[in-house]
Amino acid sequence: MSGSSRRGSVNQKLLDRVAAGARDAGALVTAVRLADYDMPIYDGDLEQERGVPDGARAFQAAVAEHDALLIATPEHNGGYTALLKNAVDWLSRPLADGRTGVSLLSGKTAALVSASPGVLGGIRSQTALRIVLEKLGVIVLPQSMALGGAYDAFDQDGRLKDPVTDGVVRNIGRDLARLVGRLG
Ligand SMILES: Cc1cc2nc3c(=O)[nH]c(=O)nc-3n(C[C@H](O)[C@H](O)[C@H](O)COP(=O)(O)O)c2cc1C
Repeated sequence: MSGSSRRGSVNQKLLDRVAAGARDAGALVTAVRLADYDMPIYDGDLEQERGVPDGARAFQAAVAEHDALLIATPEHNGGYTALLKNAVDWLSRPLADGRTGVSLLSGKTAALVSASPGVLGGIRSQTALRIVLEKLGVIVLPQSMALGGAYDAFDQDGRLKDPVTDGVVRNIGRDLARLVGRLG
């Protein structure tokens, strides 16, 4: 999943390369577009009056079916995006069967990458997101990529122009797939 649903999103492009690495390592990867899930901004009154929205339930179900999360996180004002935070907050709400939402995430693994036109590549968004995911019990892979100058980093086929960087990014997906395999 990407914290940006923008057409032409550089985070989505970067995520696609990580996913390619995971697929090559044998993982079954599902592409999730957060904006496709009808998830209003979290509101406790709305939840109490109408329950967890169907879109959030569908997103919880999608996450439940997977062992790991690949997340590309754009940086907005030094943090990660509202789209991503809202999705995580709904994810953490109680499940339809009464289990806690946190039980859904606890013990899953995740890899984080980010891309930005700036020089730091959105690294601060990763730091902020890592803290939240670890609080929820997610094991976050140490390997990551913060891709700076991202508007000029991809070729027409969606690969990174620099083959070394392309390999490093693909290896993040590979390493996450291997970790999931080792954890069983
Ligand atoms: C509200 C807003 C805040 C932003 N803040 C930052 C920032 O703090 N650091 C940064 O590197 N880029 C920042 N950007 C630029 C984004 O990195 C840029 O829009 C990027 O293309 C977003 O990722 P995407 O291409 O995947 O949509 C900001 C953009 C917006 C719209």
